[in-house]
Amino acid sequence: MGAVTGSDAVERRLRRVGFGPEHAERLLELKPIMHPLAHEMALAFYDHLGQDPETRRILWGEPGRVERLYESFEGWYRELFEGVYDADYAAKRLRVGVVHARYGVPLSSLIPAIGQVYSLALEHLLVALRPVELPSALEALGKVLTLDTTLMAESYERAVAAGVEDGEGATQRGAARILTLARSGAGLGGGR
Ligand code: HEM
Repeated sequence: MGAVTGSDAVERRLRRVGFGPEHAERLLELKPIMHPLAHEMALAFYDHLGQDPETRRILWGEPGRVERLYESFEGWYRELFEGVYDADYAAKRLRVGVVHARYGVPLSSLIPAIGQVYSLALEHLLVALRPVELPSALEALGKVLTLDTTLMAESYERAVAAGVEDGEGATQRGAARILTLARSGAGLGGGR
C-alpha cells in the first residue's frame, strides 16, 4: 500500500503540492510497468541533456561521471514509484538539490530536466496503459515530480542563501558546507 505519512514538515510539503494517499497508491500500481524501464530512461535522459553544450560540459567534465550518474538517476527514478513518500524520501530529494548546487548546475537547467522526465515517462505510459487508465496515472506522475521539484528547489535555495555573502563560487561553497554538516548528523531538513 502507498504511504504519505511522515513528520509535520513532510506532511506540510505534501499538502502544498496536493499529494494525497490516492497518488501514492497509483504510483505504486505503476511500479511494475515503470521499473523495468529505468535504464532506458537514464540513457534517454542523459542523451537529451548532452545536446545542450553547457550541460554536456558539466556531465562529461570528469571521467566516469556520466556513468555514475546513470546509476544515481536510475535509483532516483525507481523511487518515484515505490509508493512511500516520507521523511527519508524527502531527505534524499533535498540532497539532490544541494548536490546540484554544489556542482554549479543552475536551477534553470534542473527544472526543464524534470519536464523531460515527465515527457519520457509519458511516452511510455501512452503505450503501456489503456486510455481509461491514463488520467489518474498522469496526475500521480505530475504530483510526484512537482514534489521532487519543490524539494530540490528548497535545498538549492538554502545553498544559495548559505553562500550568498561569500562572493564568487559562493553557492558551491554554501552547498559544500551544508553537505558536510549533513554528514555529521545535522540532516537536510527532511524531517523538520
Ligand atoms: C532534474 C533532473 C535530474 C535528476 C533527477 C538528477 C539526479 C541526480 C542524482 C540522483 C544525483 C546524485 C546525487 C547524490 O550524490 O546524492 C545527481 C548528481 C549530479 N547531477 Fe543530476 N540530475 C538531474 C539533472 C541534472 C542536470 C540538468 C545536470 C547538468 C549538468 C546534472 C548534473 C549532475 C552532476 C554534475 C552531479 C554530481 C555528479 C558526481 O557525483 O560527480 N543533473 N543527479
